[in-house]
Amino acid sequence: MTQKEPVITVDGASGTGKGVVSQIVAKRLGWKLLDSGALYRVLALAAQKHAVAVDNEAALKVLAEHLDAQFVTQVNDFSVILLEGEDVTDTIRTEKVGNAASKIAALPAVRIALLNRQRAFRELPGLVADGRDMGTVIFPDASLKFFLTASPEERALRRYNQLKEKGISVNLTDLVEELRERDKRDQERPIAPLRPAEDAICIDTDHLSIEQVVALILSEVNKIFPVVTLE
Ligand code: DC
Repeated sequence: MTQKEPVITVDGASGTGKGVVSQIVAKRLGWKLLDSGALYRVLALAAQKHAVAVDNEAALKVLAEHLDAQFVTQVNDFSVILLEGEDVTDTIRTEKVGNAASKIAALPAVRIALLNRQRAFRELPGLVADGRDMGTVIFPDASLKFFLTASPEERALRRYNQLKEKGISVNLTDLVEELRERDKRDQERPIAPLRPAEDAICIDTDHLSIEQVVALILSEVNKIFPVVTLE
């Protein structure tokens, strides 16, 4: 096992529930959380703000290296995300920003520029890292790696309900289409494509509730770290 701070990685496509599952697991363990997708989303928003095109790799690299983004954890464990001091917690969750994030995330210089920033989240007592390449690229030495899957229809529906709850109105058919496009881009990009690490435990979440997925993950965690679960 690693001598470094322990890391659990939770990778998968959007709509697999990995975001909320990672949040709950981190909370129960009392560990830090890295929402790496949020970092790509903040960068996409910064690009929009500074009129940088999503294919301008050189300018995006500079923007990524100087990205003034902060994740401020509140008393209720909810994180507020600031871009250049402005609260962008909700703005980064729109489909428009998600799509732009997926485009800029395919650029090698952008991924390299964000690498150390993500690794810096590794702190004691431990880290739960949520993303696409947490187990394959960012934390290949993680103590435990999970890869969540779900059918496109189920994921689109979950995303639809999630956005609706937040008062963001979207069309379900458009959502399925955008999701497919985004998946294809994330899976087919030459650098850090979305795929399970060889040593990842794959969980098909189609017929599982969030709580059931959390329980599965925590039961694996308890095999390695028997005393860490808080509840
Ligand atoms: O998980 P999410 O939907 O918030 O991520 C937004 C986009 O960022 C996603 O389409 C692909 C990209 N991303 C990535 O390439 N690598 C990560 N580790 C996390 C997200």
